[in-house]
Amino acid sequence: MDKVGQMQQTIERLTSPGRGILAADESYPTITKRLADHNIESTEETRRFYRSLLANTPGIGEYVSGIIFFEETLGQKNDDGVRIPQACEQQDIVPGIKVDKGLTDLPGSPGDKITQGLDNLGDRLDGYLEQGALFTKWRNVYAISADTPSRQAIEANAEVLARYAAIVQSRGMVPIVEPEVLMDGSHSLERCAEVTEAAQSALFAALRRHQVILEAVILKPNMVLPGKDVQPRPSAEVCAQATLRVLRRTVPAAVPSINFLSGGQTCEEATANLNAMNQASVSKPWVLSFSYSRALQNPVQAAWAGDNANKAAAEQAFLKRARLNSLARQGQYRTELETTD
Ligand code: 13P
Repeated sequence: MDKVGQMQQTIERLTSPGRGILAADESYPTITKRLADHNIESTEETRRFYRSLLANTPGIGEYVSGIIFFEETLGQKNDDGVRIPQACEQQDIVPGIKVDKGLTDLPGSPGDKITQGLDNLGDRLDGYLEQGALFTKWRNVYAISADTPSRQAIEANAEVLARYAAIVQSRGMVPIVEPEVLMDGSHSLERCAEVTEAAQSALFAALRRHQVILEAVILKPNMVLPGKDVQPRPSAEVCAQATLRVLRRTVPAAVPSINFLSGGQTCEEATANLNAMNQASVSKPWVLSFSYSRALQNPVQAAWAGDNANKAAAEQAFLKRARLNSLARQGQYRTELETTD
């Protein structure tokens, strides 16, 4: 199969009805922090056990179409000795890989960051492909303050994200592009909308400049919300209306799928907001689904608590959260299901 055919096939699998993506690609410092929240030590073995539990949960393939992993996991095996990417394929889950190398300060723009990792990216991709990964993720961040993000940060980050996407497509892999406007702070929903629109407009201009095939890209954006210090939180309908307004202004209809990050929302908030978007009557030419990390994994980590005897309970917690998000992806979630499901 040629590279375009390969990408089309991956997109079809990732966007199949009722399913979404799990991000299980936390870097060493991030997974250490997440597990520490549940008094779990992060070691090569605890990470292997936990991430193979996610990939091997019986029946999870009904709700999860793809899992984004961190480099380390691609080479690890489950308890049956099957490599984790191949174990995913057994449940028709597409294995993916986070390929950026994290953030650094952007000189000339105090308070702004730029994402690293373009050097040797093509060579690294060849290795990931051999290990079974068919799609990739790269995350940029934009912090909101009185002075940030600057125009320079918006343009520089768009350029880097587009270069990444072009390199990934040259290998026949599908790039997830993630321009994350952070929730930290006390900014208004309107300010988040303004920054999200600016970041996404610059991104799509850059993707065109770099001749990225829009039909083979997945956008992973933040939802449009006020900063997390703002109370009370807006209703799901308000979030959906504001988010769809920005997306309709910025994202071409050629893009097949928009898979949101959860960004520090509670599990229930992230699910309800996605549901409201899918229920909204305004026209939306893309699949609207999830690519959550915390909003899918938090209950699983709580149920596991680092004790492998809790494996079945952890799997049940994962199935429940994934099923509720699958319903939200179809606009069929109801809050009562949190207690009755
Ligand atoms: P959250 O859903 O926890 O925001 O993580 C998504 C992600 O993959 C960030 O890169």
